[in-house]
Amino acid sequence: MSLLQVNNLGVQFQTPDGLVSAVNGVSFELQAGQTLGIVGESGSGKSQSVLAMMGLLAKNGKATGEALYNGQNLLTMSPKQLNGIRGDRVSMIFQDPMTSLNPYLTVERQMTEVLELHKGMTRREAKKRAISLLEAVRIPEAARRVDMYPHEFSGGMRQRVMIAMALLCEPEILIADEPTTALDVTVQAQILSLLKDLQRDFGTAIVMITHDLGVVAGLCEKVMVMYGGRVMEYGSANDIFYQPSHPYTIGLLGALPRLDHDGSELVSIPGNPPNMANMPKGCPFSERCTHVSELCIGTLPPLAASAANPAVLRACHKAPQELKPSVEVVAHV
Ligand SMILES: Nc1ncnc2c1ncn2[C@@H]1O[C@H](COP(=O)(O)OP(=O)(O)OP(=O)(O)O)[C@@H](O)[C@H]1O
Ligand code: SF4
Ligand SMILES: [Mg+2]
Repeated sequence: MSLLQVNNLGVQFQTPDGLVSAVNGVSFELQAGQTLGIVGESGSGKSQSVLAMMGLLAKNGKATGEALYNGQNLLTMSPKQLNGIRGDRVSMIFQDPMTSLNPYLTVERQMTEVLELHKGMTRREAKKRAISLLEAVRIPEAARRVDMYPHEFSGGMRQRVMIAMALLCEPEILIADEPTTALDVTVQAQILSLLKDLQRDFGTAIVMITHDLGVVAGLCEKVMVMYGGRVMEYGSANDIFYQPSHPYTIGLLGALPRLDHDGSELVSIPGNPPNMANMPKGCPFSERCTHVSELCIGTLPPLAASAANPAVLRACHKAPQELKPSVEVVAHV
């Protein structure tokens, strides 16, 4: 059994302009200790997919489908059952650490409170554990800094504190929603390498949400590319990076800066993401795709195994070999 098995997940929002389908037919699975990257531009439905699983949608939102955690459907659990899992077996970290950290409590108090509550530890035991976790996320002088308030840490250090908080109860799954977006490139690289080490040392499965394919490159084994609330391509990181077979993935890779590259040939995808309240009838990417045909405009392409590589799922009417010219452009980048 997979640790997490998501089947046909959907999210709809009731809005003054009508019903908005923010997420449609999203399916994926996560094995223990595995890392999955969910990648896509702003508004593609990445955050709402995981918020739906965690029972954290806004009041006007509703989730459909299934999200089985160890075989139990998170979407139909009572708030009490879900609370027992959230923050304990499954933890989330966000772009802004201040959304998870209490500015009025020292880091020590925030961490020990959780351990006293969830693990029945004494304050003394809990403080020892808190310090060892701060050391694990490479906070220098952890024994002294544990008594500081969140605002006394720099942005990167605060992000590390949040990761330590998320690991307090040794979760099986860590969901990281754009955890490095607000950080400068060097700190971003340090946090990513930290997550990689933690995944190795603690065996935590990670779901990394990002708009930047570069972020998932060294970290994730599997990658799911989303656009307009749908999965465009899903496969191993190797297949997605070296043999992308969907025009949107190819476009994202063209916009990806590389360390060995001076940036002069970067091509970003022209146009803007679709208006979710007024989605195209056919392929969500049809308004920006250079391979668009009549079929694409009129008919939604199903997500299906690629003819060229059955391990990859893709939602595109065109066969991978018909996209060749663009793939070669990417190969030059
Ligand atoms: N409460 C809400 N009511 C109506 N629409 C919403 C609501 N919350 C989110 N949406 C819409 O759902 C869509 C998907 O949003 P989501 O937050 O999942 O995007 P994302 O891929 O995480 O983007 P970003 O990279 O900007 O975080 C967006 O079009 C957004 O406007
Ligand atoms: S279905 Fe058509 S419009 Fe959509 S990505 Fe494929 S070729 Fe482009
Ligand atoms: Mg988001």
